[in-house]
Amino acid sequence: MNWFIATFRSSIGKKLVMAITGLSFCLFLALHLVGNFFYYGGGSAFEGYSAHLHQRLVLLRLAEGGLIFFAVLHILFAAILYFQNLAARPTGYVMKKSVVRKETPGGQTISSRLMPYTGLYILVFVIIHLFAFTFVDRSAGGGLYRMVTTAFHNPFYAAFYVFSVIVVGFHINHGFWSAFQTIGANHPKYMPTIKIISVVYALIIGVCFSSIPVFIFLSA
Ligand code: HEM
Repeated sequence: MNWFIATFRSSIGKKLVMAITGLSFCLFLALHLVGNFFYYGGGSAFEGYSAHLHQRLVLLRLAEGGLIFFAVLHILFAAILYFQNLAARPTGYVMKKSVVRKETPGGQTISSRLMPYTGLYILVFVIIHLFAFTFVDRSAGGGLYRMVTTAFHNPFYAAFYVFSVIVVGFHINHGFWSAFQTIGANHPKYMPTIKIISVVYALIIGVCFSSIPVFIFLSA
């Protein structure tokens, strides 16, 4: 048990938890995207997919519970690591720059620099998103298909979603390869490929998720 507590206390242990939870979110997003694509099949296909999901209530609740638990761990350890890094950093611009370079041998990118901010934004987005489509009385809204369609006929709502999934894409762009680096795939032979997969996956998430609000708004 001691090794377990020690792992959680160490920086690498926290990073490992962030990597595993982060990669699980990537998997969740891929499944969620497949589900969303049922929208293109029309009302009965989309409602059918959602009903299929809700028929397996025990599995769904287990998956939701797992997602919430992972989200709490991911956010908690991200905050702890962020403040630990901040406290360990010497003050002064020149020193700061050299320390940052040391910590990230691959150099800083926009995505990596924005990680705490994109992460916080995603948290706010997911809360808004859940109150829009999950914690609602769907029958009062005329069913899920109608609710999603009505929501994205609003240009501000559609734009908010497009912006949000682009932010998710930026977060994945750094998070994906960084997670692989943490779990030990930090090999000069594999890293360039993992970084390419990271960019491609981030693009797929950003473009494919955006396609739904854009499609609905344009077909209004
Ligand atoms: C255009 C983009 C998106 C659309 C149209 C969309 C649509 C939906 C819909 C309709 C549901 C309810 C599904 C059901 O219960 O049958 C849902 C659930 C959910 N969405 Fe999204 N979503 C989008 C993007 C995202 C993104 C980017 C994230 C995460 C960063 C996300 C996280 C979630 C979560 C956590 C749930 C709850 C899952 C559950 O309770 O089983 N969604 N989404």
